Amino acid sequence: MSDGVVLIGAGGHASVLLDLLIEQRANILGYISIDIASNEQLFSDFRRFKSDEQINQFDRSMVKLVNGVGSIPGNTLRHDIYNRYKELGYRFATIVSQNAIVSKYAQLAEGVQVMHGAIIQAGVSVGCNSIVNTGAIIEHDCTIGNNNHIAPGVTISGNVTSQSNVHFGTGSSVIQLVDIDENVIIGAGATITKNVEKNSICYPARIFKQAIE
Ligand SMILES: CC(C)(COP(=O)(O)OP(=O)(O)OC[C@H]1O[C@@H](n2cnc3c(N)ncnc32)[C@H](O)[C@@H]1OP(=O)(O)O)[C@@H](O)C(=O)NCCC(=O)NCCS
Repeated sequence: MSDGVVLIGAGGHASVLLDLLIEQRANILGYISIDIASNEQLFSDFRRFKSDEQINQFDRSMVKLVNGVGSIPGNTLRHDIYNRYKELGYRFATIVSQNAIVSKYAQLAEGVQVMHGAIIQAGVSVGCNSIVNTGAIIEHDCTIGNNNHIAPGVTISGNVTSQSNVHFGTGSSVIQLVDIDENVIIGAGATITKNVEKNSICYPARIFKQAIE
């Protein structure tokens, strides 16, 4: 990564990314945050920009942004920030952990972040600004949309497609050949076996059985 990078945010997701960027010896120019970092020790060596205007000093062709805003169901902040900076002419770095396995026959769009322990197999494409979080597995030939969050420990089987703004909750599983429409939330631990319509929330089964006397 030869361009200088500026990290947006200083919360939990940003701290994981900063740790990764340090490990990769990236040229970190600083981070943008109104608030003091949640992990002050980690951020203490880096310059804090308290407003967006302060990064205008950098030539947009020489700097890449890293979207450190995490993604939780029902909150569009990460998506909004990506769009805002793209409109201003900035580019986003695509980040892959040195401890992830990504097939050379997979395609990652701008701003995708692949965290430690993730596995992305051949024939997969992942849309812009999506997160493939810690330990997630995306099997062969899946097409993952823009602004998706594949949370820690998710397993997506082969030939699955997802449209924009899909949240795959922590530890959820999706069987092969399923199509997931836009703006869907898959609850943590859910197992998806059929296509999912847009704007759906998929809750996991919760089976409670009374003790037999
Ligand atoms: C599916 C989800 C969006 C539901 O949110 P919600 O509609 O606001 O549901 P609530 O939090 O009001 O919970 C309603 C009930 O369902 C239960 N519940 C919610 N999600 C559940 C889940 N995934 N598994 C089991 N039970 C769940 C709650 O414990 C609660 O139970 P109660 O009525 O007995 O108290 C959310 O719980 C979820 O799974 N989010 C994904 C989190 C995630 O992936 N985080 C990743 C961060 S990196």
